[in-house]
Amino acid sequence: MIISNVNKERLWQSHVELAKIGATPGGGVGRIALTDLDRDGRNLFISWCEEAGLAVRVDKMGNIFARREGSDPKRAPVMTGSHLDTQPLGGWFDGAYGVLAGLEVIRTLNDTSCSTLAPIDIVVWTDEEGVRFAGGCMGVGVFAGELGLEEALACRDKNGLSIKDELKKIGFDGEEPCGGYPVAAYFEAHIEQGPILEKKDTVIGVVKGAQGQRCFKVTVSGEEGHAGTLPMDQRKDAFQAAARMSVAIDEAVKEFSPKSVVTVGAFDVSPNSRNTIPGQVIFSIDSRSPDDETLSKIKTAMLNLCQDIADKRDVMLVFEEVSYSAPVLFNSNCISAIRTAAQDLNLSNLEIFSGAGHDACHVSRVAPTGMIFVPCERGISHNEKESASPEHLAQGCEVLLSVIKKFAC
Ligand code: GLV
Ligand code: MN
Ligand code: MN
Repeated sequence: MIISNVNKERLWQSHVELAKIGATPGGGVGRIALTDLDRDGRNLFISWCEEAGLAVRVDKMGNIFARREGSDPKRAPVMTGSHLDTQPLGGWFDGAYGVLAGLEVIRTLNDTSCSTLAPIDIVVWTDEEGVRFAGGCMGVGVFAGELGLEEALACRDKNGLSIKDELKKIGFDGEEPCGGYPVAAYFEAHIEQGPILEKKDTVIGVVKGAQGQRCFKVTVSGEEGHAGTLPMDQRKDAFQAAARMSVAIDEAVKEFSPKSVVTVGAFDVSPNSRNTIPGQVIFSIDSRSPDDETLSKIKTAMLNLCQDIADKRDVMLVFEEVSYSAPVLFNSNCISAIRTAAQDLNLSNLEIFSGAGHDACHVSRVAPTGMIFVPCERGISHNEKESASPEHLAQGCEVLLSVIKKFAC
């Protein structure tokens, strides 16, 4: 296999530098959306873009667009990118790879003095991970018209801080309108975040689409009381009810597995004191399936079983859907361009369906979209131990360069 163009060392070194921002003791990265660390990561990326001669714009959702002009002013931009925010204990590559691969494509075009007809935008989407505010993909959701700008800006984290105020605080409350203009094509490179490519000893995942997702916020309200004085049969313990709900959810999902998956990932107990009976619990449910109808059935099943337990234990239930993303099929021209590029580069490849959600899933509602996956070690992601090889990252980037040239030239 010959890597003909992109600079593997430079691409790797960019990951090394970026991973220093928010580095965790366990060797990962924690750069949660709209924190000072997110700001620092964004600013490092912008400094690299400016060095590469790109003009940087920020829209009203804080999405960053770094543009390399094309020679034909009438052409719509070809976009590539991903996100720079991470999970609390995330890795080096989830999101960062898509952004840095876009940067490496631009640097390579500059090195080879290759001009394009269409402009190329590298995009950093705001709050993909959804750790802090709601279901995730907030910036791209507004760009794609799935979410209203004001509604998104008004979203608050658990400390009551809004996206609007936090964007302002980190200096990314941009002026540009968010979306509403044509995009010629969007390509996103990403680590697979699953084990298939590695198991099949394959370098490039030609992504056909991604499973749908429904996320819920469940609030269980009981009554606080003294842990030493209130008899067991007089309690309205929100934790005991919520814990049973979580166990019941895990049991109920068996009916829909292995195709569909459900996760209770966040669990907040209030007041979280040893000797006070918990008065309130807020927990999350993240449900995913390649099949939209199954996703609706899972929602009904989860709601019913939570309500049943709430009634039995005399606590109040509020069950809110915080995000919905239908299963996605990517654009056939983009898919075949990725496959052809991999074949021309003599890279092993296979068609794959994404288990994770991505910014690309939302862009696909408004522009022809494709995704390129590369393997990650043992499929581990959303983990400090997330790992991918410099060689695979460069090979995926080479495919990205090829398809961007194809669509922009
Ligand atoms: C994002 O990483 C997601 O799939 O939730
Ligand atoms: Mn990601
Ligand atoms: Mn992620």
